[in-house]
This record gives sequence, structure tokens and C-alpha cells, in this order.
Amino acid sequence: MASLHLADGSSLQLRPLEPDDGELLVRLFFRLSAETVYRRFLSPIPDPYRPEMRRLLEVDHRRREALAALSEGEVVAVARYARDAADPDVAEIAIVVEDGWQGRGLGRLLTRRLAALARRRGIAAFHATMLGDNRPALRLLRGLSEAARFRWSTGEIEAEVPLTREPADTSRPRSEIPPAPAPR
Ligand SMILES: CC(C)(COP(=O)(O)OP(=O)(O)OC[C@H]1O[C@@H](n2cnc3c(N)ncnc32)[C@H](O)[C@@H]1OP(=O)(O)O)[C@@H](O)C(=O)NCCC(=O)NCCS
Repeated sequence: MASLHLADGSSLQLRPLEPDDGELLVRLFFRLSAETVYRRFLSPIPDPYRPEMRRLLEVDHRRREALAALSEGEVVAVARYARDAADPDVAEIAIVVEDGWQGRGLGRLLTRRLAALARRRGIAAFHATMLGDNRPALRLLRGLSEAARFRWSTGEIEAEVPLTREPADTSRPRSEIPPAPAPR
């Protein structure tokens, strides 16, 4: 198991999600705020035991991958990708970080690890859909590639993030993030 070290001195364990991590994921889900759940799933999920949630454990390390960050034995963040069935060079990604761990650099570290893995496996670009006001997610993806492109439509942002180059280590100043267009 690898380690992740945050700038505030915290250390976490990093490992691929495993098929028997269901209870850890359910416990994570119940610790998430309603806003974090909504931002992750783009809808409220009242019951984490719903059958479609089982798909989150279907990780074959080829078409679907998920990396988990653990603290004191609990999963506190997950970053995942699923290759597009029509275009396997592109993968849809989703990330969630437990509320108390947000804003501490964990999402960025985890996403960079996932991007490095995806690059090695020949994935050329990440695609993501997020709510139009999800500034942390926007900044996270912008930091993955300077060539990232964002398209706003009906309250959501579609992101295309090429993975051709390693991301720069420095954070981009907030002013370089393109503002969302005014609602029409
Ligand atoms: C989006 C999310 C994964 C980011 O993870 P995180 O650990 O909180 O983010 P980090 O601390 O690594 O910061 C990532 C970037 O967001 C910025 N950021 C973090 N919190 C922020 C906030 N509250 N407001 C604005 N920017 C913020 C950071 O400054 C950083 O940008 P930078 O590298 O340009 O400085 C996390 O907030 C989350 O789980 N949100 C709910 C689920 C979600 O939105 N998932 C994404 C859609 S699938």
C-alpha cells in the first residue's frame, strides 16, 4: 500500500478499491454531506444500498479503475475512471473527498495518481461532468492539464482533459480559471 502526504502533515494510505470494500464505501457515503453527495452524483442518493451503487465496486483495473485514500482504516476519498465503451482512449472520471478532508490537497493528489495510472494504460483524455458552480472540481481538473477544455450547458460543465503531458507541480492562480458565462 502506498502513502499520500498532504501539505498539512497528514498521511493517508493509497490503494486500489477492492470488491469487498462495499461496507467502507457505505460508511463513507453516510459521512458525506448532502451537498457533497449531490456534487458527486449530480442527484440526491437517499440509499447507498441501491443496486446501481454496487457498480462502484466493479473495478477490473482495465476498463474501470478506482483508487481509494484511507485514514485510520476508513476510506475518505475515491477517484475513479471508466473507459468510454465507444472510445476506450477516453475515460469518464468521478472523485469524492469526505467533507472534513476537502480543501487540503487530497483530491488533487488522488486525481494526479489516477491520471498517471491512466496515462500508463494508454488513456488519452479524461471526461467529467460537474455542476456549473463546482469551483473546486473545476480547479482540480484545470490543474491536471493546461489544455483542459470546459463547456457550460444548462447548469453543468463538461470537461475534457487531455492526459498527454504530466501536470505542472505549481497551482494556477484563481484568476486564470475562466468564469462561468452569465445565465441566459
Ligand atoms: C471536488 C473535490 C473532489 C476536490 O477535492 P479536494 O480535496 O477538496 O480539493 P483540493 O484540496 O485537492 O483542491 C483542488 C483545487 O480546488 C481548489 N479548492 C478546494 N476547495 C475549494 C473551495 N472551497 N473553493 C474554491 N476552490 C477550492 C483548490 O484551491 C485547488 O485548486 P488549485 O490547485 O488551483 O489551488 C472535493 O471537493 C469533493 O469531493 N467535492 C464533492 C464531490 C465533487 O464535486 N466531485 C467532483 C465531481 S465528480
